[in-house]
Amino acid sequence: MKILITGGAGFIGSHVVRLFVTKYPNYQIFNLDKLTYAGNLQNLTDIEDAPNYTFIKGDITDQEYINGLFQEHQFDAVMHLAAESHVDRSITDPMAFVRTNVNGTCNLLHAAKELWKSDFTDKVFYHISTDEVYGSLGEEGMFTEETKYDPRSPYSASKASSDHFVRAYYHTYGLPVKVSNCSNNYGPNHFPEKLIPLALNNIKNNKPVPVYGKGENIRDWLYVIDHARAIDDVFHKGKEGDTYNIGGVNEWRNIDLIHLLCDIMDQKLDREPGTSRKLITFVTDRAGHDLRYAIDSSKIMNELGWKPSVTFEEGLEKTVDWYLQNEEWLQNVTSGSYQEYYNEQYAR
Ligand code: NAD
Ligand code: TYD
Repeated sequence: MKILITGGAGFIGSHVVRLFVTKYPNYQIFNLDKLTYAGNLQNLTDIEDAPNYTFIKGDITDQEYINGLFQEHQFDAVMHLAAESHVDRSITDPMAFVRTNVNGTCNLLHAAKELWKSDFTDKVFYHISTDEVYGSLGEEGMFTEETKYDPRSPYSASKASSDHFVRAYYHTYGLPVKVSNCSNNYGPNHFPEKLIPLALNNIKNNKPVPVYGKGENIRDWLYVIDHARAIDDVFHKGKEGDTYNIGGVNEWRNIDLIHLLCDIMDQKLDREPGTSRKLITFVTDRAGHDLRYAIDSSKIMNELGWKPSVTFEEGLEKTVDWYLQNEEWLQNVTSGSYQEYYNEQYAR
């Protein structure tokens, strides 16, 4: 089977690519990535020479290019992760999110439909999406697969739009699609613009740790490798046309999480208890900041047998250790020098 994984050089995509390349040696994995600021091939150095792995540098917003790529490689399945993924960036540059997340997804849907239209048997178009499409919760309740879409940021609106197009291709053309909507991920390879890696990097470097508003917003955190395992389950066992919510059952107020990160870092860096908490700096709140996300994962747990493999304590320990042991990775991504890796390895 030839599988196209888009966005495989990013945070979640790199874990999905590694899992599929190593677990399924009979699959041919093609990783299509534009290598934006968020794409980093150093996330995949351990598998870059695997015989069943091919990297392709390309842009999903280029419709002609995407059509040609599908015709050239005759993919059997698509796992679509490429996206602009940061809410704060979507507030300053919403059109970039429309181009990649909406137009890019439609280009892939169209190319898959054209390639497969004579026979959809055994084909899969799997869209990896976010729980943010459901909007913001109050103090009670959880998002289920039936929750009405109510996106509030340009990021979540672009992901909601792309989810709608995926389902429209299922209902209109019979394209065999699957969708999953996941809560906030954390773990190795996470770009330090998102809360956990940004806080760890700043604590390490004795820089201010920005907390938006009062830090009362709540997120449900899932270890990235458990998300990759869930994606494996949905890809292989999920029902055509269905949606699966994936979450950690692990809600944290931002301020409590940041306190925890500060305390772990004090221990790891042999600092006096309380030292890192002094770096916490309350800053102006994000515009339209969603109060709370929480996911009901009972469908994927009951129907596909998935459950997280690590507790939050174990996952955070692995994550903190990874960031402390991968100083070079952090320095490269903060200086931008990781973007030269493609030219050294591939563009010879
Ligand atoms: P990321 O920003 O780390 O990676 C995105 C990848 O897509 C990068 O490698 C980037 O180079 C690539 N890309 C961006 N624009 C492209 C384009 N036009 N053409 C080709 N490649 C392009 O994102 P992530 O956090 O790994 O998220 C992956 C997917 O999972 C996204 O669709 C996101 O919406 C979804 N998701 C993320 C989270 C989370 O907590 N990070 C949670 C749920 C769902
Ligand atoms: P983020 O990691 O950007 O993910 P998302 O907005 O998709 O949930 O942010 C997680 C939470 O942390 C969110 O409530 C915003 C908040 N936050 C801060 O308080 N400070 C920061 O520096 C960042 C990046 C986020």
